[in-house]
Amino acid sequence: MRKKITKAIFPVAGLGTRFLPATKSIPKEILSLVDRPLIQYAIDEAREAGIKEFIFVTSRGKGALEDYFDGAPQLEQSLRKKNKKELLEELKRSTMDSGEIVYIRQREALGLGHAVWCARRLIANEPFAVILPDDVIAAEKPCLKQMVEAYENTGGCMVAAMEVPPSMASAYGLLDIEENMGSLLKIKGMVEKPEPEDAPSNLAVIGRYILTPSVLKNVGTLKKGAGGEIQLTDAIAMEVENGSDVFGFRFDGQRYDCGSKSGFLQATIAFALSRPELRDELMEFMVETVESRRAAQ
Ligand code: UTP
Repeated sequence: MRKKITKAIFPVAGLGTRFLPATKSIPKEILSLVDRPLIQYAIDEAREAGIKEFIFVTSRGKGALEDYFDGAPQLEQSLRKKNKKELLEELKRSTMDSGEIVYIRQREALGLGHAVWCARRLIANEPFAVILPDDVIAAEKPCLKQMVEAYENTGGCMVAAMEVPPSMASAYGLLDIEENMGSLLKIKGMVEKPEPEDAPSNLAVIGRYILTPSVLKNVGTLKKGAGGEIQLTDAIAMEVENGSDVFGFRFDGQRYDCGSKSGFLQATIAFALSRPELRDELMEFMVETVESRRAAQ
């Protein structure tokens, strides 16, 4: 029997510079799609995939994130008095049980690989998941659950993968494919943000990972990589070099890059349009706005 994936790391210690000045005082992960913070989507996805221990790698200025997961007795009491059952239910979903969530600090934003490595003592000797909350994936079956099910057959390391336009590929970690097995891709190499002429494919790594603890050991030996950061991609690539299995997994679902303004706005529109109470009014507004823009051009 393969060991179940019950721990997930949420690296949230980045500076979020693309959303300044908002992120001067609000963690990026608290920014909301309609009315739910990005982090809530990540937590819900992890829970549905069977995660029981939630490890947050945070940094200075992320206090609002910790508060978000606390109980809110006064608010709950007031909602109970007013018999607002649906809102109470929503609040319950955002409250984490004591001991279910752990926060550790990354002292300096040295890169994603370094952030994940900060959790090494909590991971010890088990395979684990990593979720980047700014990659929001709308899917019938949550992306991490799809991956956990595939992992039960494959073992090894697995990264979520998706095709990106060649003009955008250099912004991602890219996969060098040995064998294409439908939604599973056997990997023979990975490279973080290569120059366009060095791109092995346009299959990009998206922010969901299932990793073996040896990846954390690899991080400990890494020098700074692309962008002067300690890259998780480089640590996973070392696994391939050491002869271990690494797979890409083409998930079913729509991914939104909520770390970028455009992706965040697209997700906001898509999620709002999927809400019956908002759809009609928003559609009308959008059609009118687009028409008057076009007329003005
Ligand atoms: P990004 O590359 O999006 O960086 O990190 P960022 O700092 O969050 O945002 P920008 O680019 O300045 O706007 C991808 C993920 O890795 C985490 C981030 O919090 C995000 O979830 N990360 C990145 C860390 O936890 N530590 C780091 O040193 C770097």
